[in-house]
Amino acid sequence: MLGVWLLVCLCAPVLAEFDSRLDQHWELWKKTYQKKYHNEVCQSFAKNVNHINTHNLEASLGLHTYTLGINHLSDLTKEEVLKFYANLRFPKDFKITPTPLQVRDEDVPDSVDWRESGLVTSVKDQGECGSCWAFSAVGALEGMWAKTKKKLVDLSPQNLVDCSGKYGNEGCGGGYMHQAFDYVIDNQGIDSEASYPYKGEVKDFVFFDGTCRYNVSNRAANCSSYQGNDTRLWVSHVCRFAWGAYGMVMCRSFHCVYYNPDCPQDLDHGVLLVGYGTDDTSGLDYWLIKNSWGEGWGENGYIRMARNKGQMCGISLYSVYPE
Ligand SMILES: *[C@@H]1O[C@H](CO)[C@@H](O)[C@H](O)[C@H]1NC(C)=O
Ligand SMILES: *[C@@H]1O[C@H](CO)[C@@H](O)[C@H](O)[C@H]1NC(C)=O
Ligand SMILES: *[C@@H]1O[C@H](CO)[C@@H](O)[C@H](O)[C@H]1NC(C)=O
Repeated sequence: MLGVWLLVCLCAPVLAEFDSRLDQHWELWKKTYQKKYHNEVCQSFAKNVNHINTHNLEASLGLHTYTLGINHLSDLTKEEVLKFYANLRFPKDFKITPTPLQVRDEDVPDSVDWRESGLVTSVKDQGECGSCWAFSAVGALEGMWAKTKKKLVDLSPQNLVDCSGKYGNEGCGGGYMHQAFDYVIDNQGIDSEASYPYKGEVKDFVFFDGTCRYNVSNRAANCSSYQGNDTRLWVSHVCRFAWGAYGMVMCRSFHCVYYNPDCPQDLDHGVLLVGYGTDDTSGLDYWLIKNSWGEGWGENGYIRMARNKGQMCGISLYSVYPE
């Protein structure tokens, strides 16, 4: 299993300056997340803990709008998180004109949370498979389907991972949301998660084996077109989550809208926009975003990212939604 291999090979032990408290944290963390490491504290874990402590101290001085914490990704470096969890592949003939995503219609409400309208399924975990694009696309299709058919069904990201290769996607190696929609449109459907469950396996570095198990009898939704525009609010969209702390934004505290003016604008991760609003405590406008890194990440799997703060993290440079 690649997972086990990764744990052994990618994680250099901390050799110098042995710290007994760090050792305790390490033991607790391994137990909590059932990680099978040998005894040595992982260097990247030690670095992450150090970064979290420094960041949270600064946050308590009012220097940041968000706090950080330990989670299931804490043994990974930023590069590893991006490599395993955020594989977005921009196609060469990228044709949708990027349109800034913003709320600009006078008629729209000040805040929206599509979860409350029953348009959002539970938070998923893509595992060590670069299938963020598939989860993002599925989330958008689920929302569209629930909105038009009044029926919320979990759709199958594995269906997209296995079957949309012809449209430029590379399974766990990465892909793009509108190419997933291209597949669903041509295929005239996508299966339910129940009938085509998620595996997210990477075996021997083969990111997808081309075996498509789509079964038309289990078709659970359709899509007829997509738009690369803004203001529609169950939008798949893209942003670089270049966390100072590699996906460890925990936000357990009072106010937590991710605002990092230094966040780069390269797009390499696909997520799902499910709402927007203004945080009472900090006064910051935010986008409400569903990620696919499990419920242990961010605010129960979600994050609120600063809105109306330029293109922070490239958040509103590109969006696409199905119809
Ligand atoms: C497709 O799904 C139906 C209903 O679940 C099942 O009866 C049929 O055997 C499946 N076909 C294939 C090729 O798996
Ligand atoms: C999807 O579209 C096809 C072709 O228009 C149609 O036959 C099928 O019933 C649709 N599926 C669903 C789940 O609505
Ligand atoms: C998409 O954006 C363009 C340019 O901003 C606009 O003219 C068009 O009406 C928009 N389409 C939709 C469906 O909102």
